[in-house]
Amino acid sequence: MKAVLDRITELRKKLNYHNYKYYIENSPEISDYDYDVLLRELQELERANPEYDDPNSPTRRVGSDLTKEFRTVRHRFPMLSLSNTYSLEEMHEFCERVRKEAGEVEYVCELKFDGTAISLTYENGRLVQAVTRGDGVAGDDVTANVRTIRSIPLELMGDDYPAFFEIRGEIIMPHASFERLNAEREENGEQPFANPRNAAAGTLKQQNSAVVARRGLDSFLYFVVGENLPYTSHWESVNKAREWGFKISNHMELCRGVECIDNYIRRVDALRHELPYDTDGVVIKVNDYAVQRQLGSTAKAPRWAVAYKFKAEQALTRLNSVDFQVGRTGAITPVANLDPVQLAGTTVKRASLHNADQIALLDIRLRDMVYVEKGGEIIPKITGVDLSQRPADSVPLEYIKTCPECGTPLVRYEGEAKHYCPNQGHCPPQIIGRINHYIGRRAMDIDGLGEETVALLYEEHLIGNIADLYDLKRGAIARLPRLGEKSADNIIQSIERSKEVPFHRVLFALGIRFVGETTAKYLAAHFRSLDAIRNASKEELMEADEIGGKIADSIIDYFADGENLAIIERLRDAGIRLEAEQREFASDQLEGMTFVISGTFKRHSRDELKGLIESHGGKNLAAVSSKTDFLLAGDNMGPAKLAKATKLGVTIIGEEQFETMIADGGDKILTDENSDDENLTNGQNNPKQGSLF
Ligand code: IVH
Repeated sequence: MKAVLDRITELRKKLNYHNYKYYIENSPEISDYDYDVLLRELQELERANPEYDDPNSPTRRVGSDLTKEFRTVRHRFPMLSLSNTYSLEEMHEFCERVRKEAGEVEYVCELKFDGTAISLTYENGRLVQAVTRGDGVAGDDVTANVRTIRSIPLELMGDDYPAFFEIRGEIIMPHASFERLNAEREENGEQPFANPRNAAAGTLKQQNSAVVARRGLDSFLYFVVGENLPYTSHWESVNKAREWGFKISNHMELCRGVECIDNYIRRVDALRHELPYDTDGVVIKVNDYAVQRQLGSTAKAPRWAVAYKFKAEQALTRLNSVDFQVGRTGAITPVANLDPVQLAGTTVKRASLHNADQIALLDIRLRDMVYVEKGGEIIPKITGVDLSQRPADSVPLEYIKTCPECGTPLVRYEGEAKHYCPNQGHCPPQIIGRINHYIGRRAMDIDGLGEETVALLYEEHLIGNIADLYDLKRGAIARLPRLGEKSADNIIQSIERSKEVPFHRVLFALGIRFVGETTAKYLAAHFRSLDAIRNASKEELMEADEIGGKIADSIIDYFADGENLAIIERLRDAGIRLEAEQREFASDQLEGMTFVISGTFKRHSRDELKGLIESHGGKNLAAVSSKTDFLLAGDNMGPAKLAKATKLGVTIIGEEQFETMIADGGDKILTDENSDDENLTNGQNNPKQGSLF
């Protein structure tokens, strides 16, 4: 048994090291695949030897789907806030106060990350607790969620860290993760997060840490806290922390005098838009611990540090009109039409007004001069009204009561901020939106059709729902303006090809509310056919992985609608795959990998192995060449093949190793393009961190 424990320890060490190389230093030494092989070996060993369980094992990064209540934990040292300054003058006043009390001192200038604060406790080099700021005195214990964040070390490197200390910093959501998450949410008919800060905070409070693991959170640490720390300055302590494996920003600078600080602020302000995450200012901290102690703190904030906040980029312009857009799910979004105005390098003509509550809250009226801001949000938003310029005769803006497209009275569901048009079956933008969703690349991939053509076909009454696509006639399409015989052929062919699309994508393509790509895969893997899903009760639906009550209710509503059932029958008649193929889709784990099989095997026939490779997204090749990634070698393999593979640097694997490659990964995550990949590989979403200066 000692050998097993030794191997487990070795694998954990190796994985922690490679994790650090990838997530902190951005210089991986091994491929994602090699990382995965190590991870899987460890998962196997841990599963077989539960007595060696360790909550800090790198395998725990995938999270667990057990839900949990958060425990409230008192902070050992209060989590203070920072006093804000909004101009260089105010910041100079801060420096002057420090100078009066402590003389000329050294400052550390750093970025002010726009995320959510966290305090991490390490005992003997191991992460033991992660707590949110809460009210500053006590916060929520979010340790299980924080363990899934790859840039947070579970075990420290080196041996000169204090036996017990806290380190504080910010959990952030990089832009890439934020955009991916919001696209997914919109696709599922869920409310997108307003900005990366809200998304990071919301994710950290998720009950299911497997969800956290998928969302691509990141961290920056900026404050080492403890009693009798063996350091004399902030700079020294955070640089030590970097050596222990923490992600410490490279954009920190030591400064003496306000000029140096001014310069730092100017440089960051100019360049911060190029960073792959949000910052909302800089933080200026007295470096020396002795001076920090001398200056002390108020109940709210230290006297030795100050934040300089960047002004949110804002412009004032006239609101001319408001459009109400109807989305695929019937959600209404009010959009402001503005006099064009320059803002943060782009011309803004339209801005989101979010919903009726927001309009009422800001008392926005037509012809008002409004403030438009581009904060963390991608779409500019209206944040206020210049009342001094309000026309005397203006009246409050009335929110629409009926759908602007079909006239149906709008509804507002409990707990939702948006209004909805409930006329799913006959409201044109909802119909067109659903058809566009159906033909999308990740759904049925009908690439001969585009949004404009769909609109045209709809206007010409050639299609009114997704099933009508399969009744389209070449001649009717060719007669339409801007189309013609060639486009018609193209369209018909790509519609025809959609009959080969596997079931899980058909399920996604149907556009059932809350059934996004990942959910569709879980459902398809569990139920294997549309009929089985349709006949399942709410409880049965919820037995499938990742399916909660909200999704189950939505599925039941979908199948309760006779029009949907009629469409499904027509899809069935057209030959669309409404059942999972025997071999269809087990996972994407071998996506992009090529294999040559050679020799005989103990547990599988060669045909079985070929089938497994395909069903996990890999490709079979007949002969070894430079295009081969793996030679799956059995007994009695020809020596020539082996020699060629060795010469070309092809990785040679046996049956058991192959099985590990396609194993379920222990936490039953089905892969779903890059988002879910993060669970099992060391991911690709880590923004590269370059130095600003
Ligand atoms: S130091 C006692 N440094 O800003 C000093 N805070 O507005 C504690 N923040 O609660 C904070 N970047 O969540 C510090 N480089 C940085 C920061 C930073 C972002 C956040 C932090 C704090 C808030 C105060």
